[in-house]
Amino acid sequence: MAPNIDPYNREITYLRVSVTDRCNLRCTYCMPVKDLQLLDHADILRYEEILNLIEIAADLGMRKIRLTGGEPLIRRGFIHFVGSVCRIPKVEDVSITTNGVFLKEMAAPLFEAGLRRVNVSLDTLNPLKYEKITGRACFNSVWEGLQRAEAVGFRPIKVNVVTIKGLNDDELYQFADLSIRKPYHIRFIEYMPIGRGSSWESQKYMASDEIKSMLERFGPLNEVPRSTHDGPVERYRFKSAKGEVGFIGALSHHFCPSCNRLRLTPDGKLRPCLFSDDEVDIKSPLRTGRSREGLKEIFLQAIARKPRRHHAGNLEGPAAMRAMSMIGG
Ligand code: 5AD
Ligand code: SF4
Repeated sequence: MAPNIDPYNREITYLRVSVTDRCNLRCTYCMPVKDLQLLDHADILRYEEILNLIEIAADLGMRKIRLTGGEPLIRRGFIHFVGSVCRIPKVEDVSITTNGVFLKEMAAPLFEAGLRRVNVSLDTLNPLKYEKITGRACFNSVWEGLQRAEAVGFRPIKVNVVTIKGLNDDELYQFADLSIRKPYHIRFIEYMPIGRGSSWESQKYMASDEIKSMLERFGPLNEVPRSTHDGPVERYRFKSAKGEVGFIGALSHHFCPSCNRLRLTPDGKLRPCLFSDDEVDIKSPLRTGRSREGLKEIFLQAIARKPRRHHAGNLEGPAAMRAMSMIGG
């Protein structure tokens, strides 16, 4: 049996690496509203340490790597680091999730370093609302960043929209229209109860099916065949659209049976499930000189601890205490 198979027969091929808990934005649903605690620099994995761990993960069959944060583009030396990740022979696919604020300046050097795929988080197309959600007046930078990423050749360009009732559900038409005009994949993500101190409120939750039926008022949606790297998204396209729309029903559509991922936190913990605070420390063994084989064992322990499914769907309150900015989405 391949080593990267969990107890429920899921093949773990995807490692999401959060390179920093810092962010230049303050999205209320993601960052704790108060008492934001940041990691000490000494606790954050160094790039060499992360590269070492990604190589081990790739040896075990984790061939798809996503770099996230916090905001990955604000960590010093990130472009050089991306280049090193892209050069790891067994890594087949590298992508980043960014808020896009620095994409305008960094899209070209990231592309030169070997990166080809970006996900940009953008919950509104209205500059004032953007400032209300993120605490910063950065809409124009993100918008220019998207155009720049498109111009230098990133494909696909995905736009993550966390859909929150009363906040951005009045903009579905604008996002639908964007998917028609631009080659962007707009991905509507269900708002999830994560992080103690985040602004989670169950009445603001919208299920994917509801979002989809609202979009269908603008025109018929045609299903797009799934590709192997897709994960839990359901993909559709409006007639003659350059881009697509997609739905990630983290709560309503139980995607746990198709879960293929493991997460590495900035402070060196392997996290088997986004919705559970169960974590396996790999930093201490790494720093006390554990052998490569020993570190592989720790990855296998984390894979073995993946739960069959999460229970976040009851909407009661944060299913996981670590803030999203500390996990990486
Ligand atoms: N629910 C859903 N998505 C979230 N994100 C952050 N917090 C939440 C939440 N509570 C998203 C960000 C980003 C990705 C990394 O995770 O918007 O797109
Ligand atoms: Fe920062 Fe992303 Fe969290 Fe917003 S969602 S605060 S951009 S890490």
